[in-house]
Amino acid sequence: MKQLTVLITGASEGLGKSFAIESAKRGLGLVLVSLPNSGLEHLANYLRVNFNSKVFCIEMDLTKNTSASEIFEKLMANKIEVNVLINNAGLGNWSWFEDKNVDFYRTQIDLNITNTVLLTRLFLNHIDKSEASYILNVGSLGGHFIVPKKQVYGATKSFIGYFTRCLQLELSGTNVHISLLSPGGINTKPELLVMNNELKGFAKATILEADYVAKAAMDGMLKGKKEIIPGFANRFLVMLDKIIPGFLKEIIIRRKLKSILTT
Ligand SMILES: NC(=O)c1ccc[n+]([C@@H]2O[C@H](COP(=O)([O-])OP(=O)(O)OC[C@H]3O[C@@H](n4cnc5c(N)ncnc54)[C@H](OP(=O)(O)O)[C@@H]3O)[C@@H](O)[C@H]2O)c1
Repeated sequence: MKQLTVLITGASEGLGKSFAIESAKRGLGLVLVSLPNSGLEHLANYLRVNFNSKVFCIEMDLTKNTSASEIFEKLMANKIEVNVLINNAGLGNWSWFEDKNVDFYRTQIDLNITNTVLLTRLFLNHIDKSEASYILNVGSLGGHFIVPKKQVYGATKSFIGYFTRCLQLELSGTNVHISLLSPGGINTKPELLVMNNELKGFAKATILEADYVAKAAMDGMLKGKKEIIPGFANRFLVMLDKIIPGFLKEIIIRRKLKSILTT
């Protein structure tokens, strides 16, 4: 089997950085993509020194119209063949719909949806389909549930779920394995850590560390799992969601919304 080389978007921080370290530990070659001046070269040097990894960095704004094609042009020009794509870069929010402006939503949709679709499309042109290759699309548990204050974000992640499930059917029987990662909350940055630390009981049990999620996701992807939901509490929530009737879910959400509005 050929050596696997993984392209990870949003690799400089958070879950993407954990994917980079996990991939290096497993001996994969790496192509790391993130915004300019986000410390990618620093991370690349850490991986080269500690894991003897082959690392190629691309600093690029993934919301640019031409970014997906420019990435594959750079790979071709440098004779780099990738056979694993981790569509990780994503922009979240926790705010009322009217509190963000039009530019914010445009960026969120471009990054979470357009960029994922275009990179996936060009990846399928790029790979050797006679060998195994893998795509991991990072969705969210938010894509499973209706969560006020995550209106556009949750919808982008529902899109990722639908898109991934359709491609799984279209690509079944080929050597291309495509998985959906649906994590709950992850402690990826200080502000989330502060917010997550205030949670109690079951809600707290749904929060996981980025390194744990990255490892579970890569294990699942390489086994060809269709959907990876890290953490028992999160899998339990998804199971509950399937059995609770719609009207009851709406009552629970409205109650939760009321408590948000009065705090
Ligand atoms: N954290 C959670 O609780 C959680 C839960 C479920 C799902 N997820 C999903 O997991 C993924 C990673 O989340 P995270 O919390 O690790 O996010 P994060 O800490 O904000 O990291 C996002 C990464 O994407 C890069 N990025 C942002 N905008 C970009 C752009 N326009 N072009 C190129 N790169 C860009 C960032 O680069 P810079 O460092 O330069 O900004 C950073 O490397 C996302 O898809 C998110 O929706 C997260």
